[in-house]
Amino acid sequence: MSRIFSGIQPSGELHIGNYLGAVENWVRLQRQHECLICIVDYHAITQDYDVSALQRRTHEMAIGLLASGIDTDDCILFTQSHVPEHTELAWVFMSVTPLGDLERMTQFKDKSKKQESIRAGLMNYPVLQAADVLLYKADRVPVGEDQVQHLELMREIARKWNARYCDGYFPEPKAQLTRARRIIGLDGSAKMSKSLGNTIGILEEPESIWKLLRPAVTDPARIRRSDPGDPDKCNIYSLHKYFGSEDQTAEVASNCRSAGWGCIDCKKVLSEAISVHFRPVRERAADLRANPARVREILGAGAAKARSIAGETIREVREHMGLREGSASW
Ligand code: TYM
Repeated sequence: MSRIFSGIQPSGELHIGNYLGAVENWVRLQRQHECLICIVDYHAITQDYDVSALQRRTHEMAIGLLASGIDTDDCILFTQSHVPEHTELAWVFMSVTPLGDLERMTQFKDKSKKQESIRAGLMNYPVLQAADVLLYKADRVPVGEDQVQHLELMREIARKWNARYCDGYFPEPKAQLTRARRIIGLDGSAKMSKSLGNTIGILEEPESIWKLLRPAVTDPARIRRSDPGDPDKCNIYSLHKYFGSEDQTAEVASNCRSAGWGCIDCKKVLSEAISVHFRPVRERAADLRANPARVREILGAGAAKARSIAGETIREVREHMGLREGSASW
């Protein structure tokens, strides 16, 4: 059976981009494969963050994932910093990763532009990501499109380490994408992203979904209510495709083209659809919030399971690299 691994940063709310691009896939795949899902707090500290909020955000992320359907009977859910082997393997991988490869990463280039002094952690971010996956020798990584380049580098790191220390030891993991590989944010142009503030959280209350959707950008050429719109140029229409049935989506498209509906009408339908879709998720999240000890227990048990796999890998890695105590031949 193949093993899947994926991760999410606790750097903000779980939004519908994360959900459609990755989390929905994790919930589906957890029944078919061995599955590990990690809340990557060590990744979250590579950018400015609120120290006093990190624990709460990690806890909230666990609630969002469990409420979305991550089932700990099928899947190991844990926090990255609870398994220190992640950072040990990252250090090992830094010794085989070319600096030029890290400098070429699109996300590094984008994020470093916003920093006055670029921190090494930001550059080494994809090395830690490679360690996350390869520590468990996972071969599939369900992610959104923005992570594909990191996955390419991950395979390169695995190849380099294998060539130097032990042929075939680490697998070369492949990205697994959904049809929602890149959800555009409410600004209608950039990727939906916590850092851009163009998101809708999956646990948002109905009124707040509407407040966020109301000013969202639609087909820019549709100025007056009576102008016919082009659904293919409208991000709101593309979201309808994920939350409505085929018939409803066709109705949205035809009312947009004929100007039968204005953009506000169209957004009202979407707001209702999103709100209904996530109602059971909101309800499960409320139950989990009322029981923080249960959430901590789940993360604790997940970390213990993850550590038993991670410890074995690190022991073997040290051995192959001549690091294990007593392994020297002198
Ligand atoms: P993160 O926390 O930014 O996002 C978590 C997952 O959500 C996907 N995603 C999206 N998919 C479609 N459209 C969007 N607008 C959108 N926004 C986010 C991401 O592609 C991701 O799958 N580096 C990773 C976390 C990570 C990781 C790993 C992932 C650390 N270690 C190991 C896989 C394996 C990240 O920042 O994801």
